[in-house]
Amino acid sequence: MTLSIHLTVNGAAQDVALDDPRVTLLDLLRERLHLTGTKKGCDRGQCGACTVLVDGRRVNSCLTLAASLEGAEVLTIEGVARGDELHPVQAAFIANDGFQCGYCTPGQIMSAIGLISEGRLDGDPERVREGMSGNLCRCGAYAGITNAVLEAEA
Ligand code: FES
Repeated sequence: MTLSIHLTVNGAAQDVALDDPRVTLLDLLRERLHLTGTKKGCDRGQCGACTVLVDGRRVNSCLTLAASLEGAEVLTIEGVARGDELHPVQAAFIANDGFQCGYCTPGQIMSAIGLISEGRLDGDPERVREGMSGNLCRCGAYAGITNAVLEAEA
């Protein structure tokens, strides 16, 4: 049975036919919509590389069924810049060396955007670390990531 869903991805309406109701949002983004900025790390909700915003809230797209997203608004790393102008969180990651290899960076940035929008960091590095704890960085760029989030939040 084919299931049709209608959602918005980075501001563009998408009508998607799903032959398999088990398709995740991560696979929908990467394999069907060719939005490969969202990364697959563990594929089991442990690393945060696949973080995107759904209706403004952070989700692990590897744990989110595409079939559950009828009418949802999805924002991925491809949708955060405005033309040539980086999102302030992107700029802060560059200014603070908030990455090394860069694989986790799209998920880190999406998580940071969601976290900042929650409005409860108050410039506190410990709150940033706790709020970003679902996003792992194997290079260990955590100091730069924390500083980037603090700068972007200020
Ligand atoms: Fe989704 Fe690791 S790929 S949390």
